[in-house]
Amino acid sequence: MFDHIFLPFCRQLCWGALCLWAAWVACATQTPPPCPQPCRCNAVKLEVDCSDRQLTTVPGNLPQDSRLLNLTHNKIKTLVHQQFKTLTQLWDLDLSDNIVVTIEVDAFLGLQNLLTLRLARNHLKIIPVGAFVGLAKLQLLDISDNEILVLLDFTFRDLAALQRIKVGENDLLFISHHAFTGLTSLQELHLDRSNLTAVPTEALKQLSGLTSLHFRRCGLTTLPNNSFRHLGRLKELVISHCPWLDTLAGNSLFGLNLTSLTISNCNLSAVPYIPLHHLVYLTYLDLSFNPITSIHGNLLRDLLRLQEFHLVGAGLLHIELGAFQGLAHLKSLNVSKNLLTTLEEGAFHSVDSLEILRIDNNLLACDCRLLWVVHRRRYLNFGGHPPICTTSVQFQGWNFLEFSDAELPGLFTCRKPHILNHELQDVQVDQGQTVLFYCNADGEPVPFIVWLNPQLRPLSSIGRIRVLANGSLEVRYAQPQDSGAYLCVASNAAGNDSLTVSLHVHSLPLSSRNPFRLESWIALPSGSPTINGTQQFSFDVKTLLIAVTIGFFSFFSSVTICFIFMFLWSKGKGQIKHTATIAYVPRSAMASSNGGTGNYMESGRLTMKLI
Ligand SMILES: *[C@@H]1O[C@H](CO)[C@@H](O)[C@H](O)[C@H]1NC(C)=O
Ligand SMILES: *[C@@H]1O[C@H](CO)[C@@H](O)[C@H](O)[C@H]1NC(C)=O
Ligand SMILES: *[C@@H]1O[C@H](CO)[C@@H](O)[C@H](O)[C@H]1NC(C)=O
Ligand SMILES: *[C@@H]1O[C@H](CO)[C@@H](O)[C@H](O)[C@H]1NC(C)=O
Ligand SMILES: *[C@@H]1O[C@H](CO)[C@@H](O)[C@H](O)[C@H]1NC(C)=O
Ligand SMILES: *[C@@H]1O[C@H](CO)[C@@H](O)[C@H](O)[C@H]1NC(C)=O
Ligand SMILES: *[C@@H]1O[C@H](CO)[C@@H](O)[C@H](O)[C@H]1NC(C)=O
Ligand SMILES: *[C@@H]1O[C@H](CO)[C@@H](O)[C@H](O)[C@H]1NC(C)=O
Ligand SMILES: *[C@@H]1O[C@H](CO)[C@@H](O)[C@H](O)[C@H]1NC(C)=O
Repeated sequence: MFDHIFLPFCRQLCWGALCLWAAWVACATQTPPPCPQPCRCNAVKLEVDCSDRQLTTVPGNLPQDSRLLNLTHNKIKTLVHQQFKTLTQLWDLDLSDNIVVTIEVDAFLGLQNLLTLRLARNHLKIIPVGAFVGLAKLQLLDISDNEILVLLDFTFRDLAALQRIKVGENDLLFISHHAFTGLTSLQELHLDRSNLTAVPTEALKQLSGLTSLHFRRCGLTTLPNNSFRHLGRLKELVISHCPWLDTLAGNSLFGLNLTSLTISNCNLSAVPYIPLHHLVYLTYLDLSFNPITSIHGNLLRDLLRLQEFHLVGAGLLHIELGAFQGLAHLKSLNVSKNLLTTLEEGAFHSVDSLEILRIDNNLLACDCRLLWVVHRRRYLNFGGHPPICTTSVQFQGWNFLEFSDAELPGLFTCRKPHILNHELQDVQVDQGQTVLFYCNADGEPVPFIVWLNPQLRPLSSIGRIRVLANGSLEVRYAQPQDSGAYLCVASNAAGNDSLTVSLHVHSLPLSSRNPFRLESWIALPSGSPTINGTQQFSFDVKTLLIAVTIGFFSFFSSVTICFIFMFLWSKGKGQIKHTATIAYVPRSAMASSNGGTGNYMESGRLTMKLI
């Protein structure tokens, strides 16, 4: 009963009190400055929007409880000292797109709760030390797109809470060694479009907490050893659009423990295997748009945890077998827009881990080497760009998803190599002659030819005994120790075929050697087996005499001809030149010293007096 009377009364009383209090609070907050003239205030969100109002100075009397102050797109030129000092509650100050040239010392004093300060697209040339005093809680600073050429020592020393700084688009030329001192919480640094020609290693040393560093559009030409040595916490490094960057020194990434590395749109001509190899925690690697033609076998095996590898638009011709050996977690491979004819299953550690594969926009030959992709075409994610057969006449333009299972046998086939001329090649020659062995093979794809010497070591395309481009083996100036059986192996993805040839070189008795052959021996490049021959000759006095005489005559006649020519020429020109110095290498001397020309360069000089 009593309740019925008392409760409503009490409720009314309470409401009254509440109303009074609310009115008082409203009055208390509203009475001080209303919204300053050209600005728009949002009392609920505590935002003051003064953007695009042709302001030349920061308006006075701003509501002191504002959280956000937007002053973008005005004509403010100078930030005078202490002009924001009443705005102790401000979180966000946006001064982008003005014409700020000068920031006075203590300009932001009082903004003790500010989290974000944007000064992008102004005309700052220099930031004085002390400009950021009082911004103890600032987390993001954007000074990108100004005209700052130099960052001075201790510029940011008051920004202990700063996590991200954007300094891009500044034509920055130099960062002083202590410029970043005090930025102990900095996690992200963007240096987009700077004219820095070297990594500011000393300055970066101060940023021990950095986790992400971006260099975009820079003038770097090389990354020297230890460029980032104090950035042990760095997880992500992006270097892109540095068109002159063509080398990474072996220890350039030393000290880093990255999980993500991008070096794209630069001028690297090879995968930087050595600089990368210690990055065992790397999961993401992007080397796109560098002129890299090949990924070699077994050189990335230290990147145990790599999950994503991008090498787009690089002009890649080969991915060798074993290229991704050791990369057991490789999930995504993006090599689109290259010149690959194939990508063999043997390139991978295991194709079972692969989920995303981009090999579109290449010159794919649809043969047995790509059968594994076709078999997995329903499970692999091609990112909407399935691979397309390019070089085979029969399926030109077909994409891999268009083949039905029924068609598959008989398509994507290879033909084992077959060596065409299997007739016996058993050659007997005299020492010093040149021998050619043939090894022609056909197959699909075109077989790769390897020649092995009698010791079963592969021969290369340079040297006295070499493999020619057409697969033939050439033995020049055959010597007795070249004798033996040579093996040609023609192999492709479908198998191999081999052919054995034999060579027998008769050594000539020493006395019957022709001095004219000696000439051609001497003409050989040093380091070839000539050493053996000439050593024997040094004991053959008769041959040595003949050689020395011939050498001396030919040398003397060249000098005489030269002398006569110069004499006639100087007469004809009427020019006066009385002496001439001629450097020469005496041939006879060379014959007995097996090519040690260095000494003769010093002594082999002849000074002549001209008439
Ligand atoms: C300030 O205003 C401009 C123009 O209205 C807008 O683009 C910008 O995002 C605003 N800044 C903030 C921090 O809200
Ligand atoms: C910085 O580089 C850009 C483009 O490379 C160039 O236009 C500009 O003049 C350079 N600035 C300075 C100060 O060298
Ligand atoms: C890139 O490197 C090649 C040689 O490797 C060189 O010819 C070319 O000029 C370089 N490009 C630039 C932009 O420096
Ligand atoms: C970089 O370090 C590697 C390995 O220690 C060394 O071989 C190389 O000479 C160094 N390069 C330079 C330019 O110092
Ligand atoms: C390298 O980074 C990984 C994670 O990114 C971390 O687990 C590991 O401890 C780090 N190693 C060193 C030596 O700092
Ligand atoms: C592969 O690279 C292309 C070109 O850079 C890009 O558009 C695409 O998103 C990448 N695909 C994957 C699966 O990462
Ligand atoms: C291979 O090339 C060499 C020289 O270039 C030539 O003498 C030889 O006949 C060629 N062999 C074949 C099988 O065409
Ligand atoms: C040639 O093929 C056989 C199997 O057919 C293989 O055992 C051998 O290792 C291959 N040889 C070479 C050099 O590839
Ligand atoms: C010279 O050739 C013989 C075989 O004819 C060989 O045993 C010897 O080691 C060779 N000497 C040198 C210095 O190459």
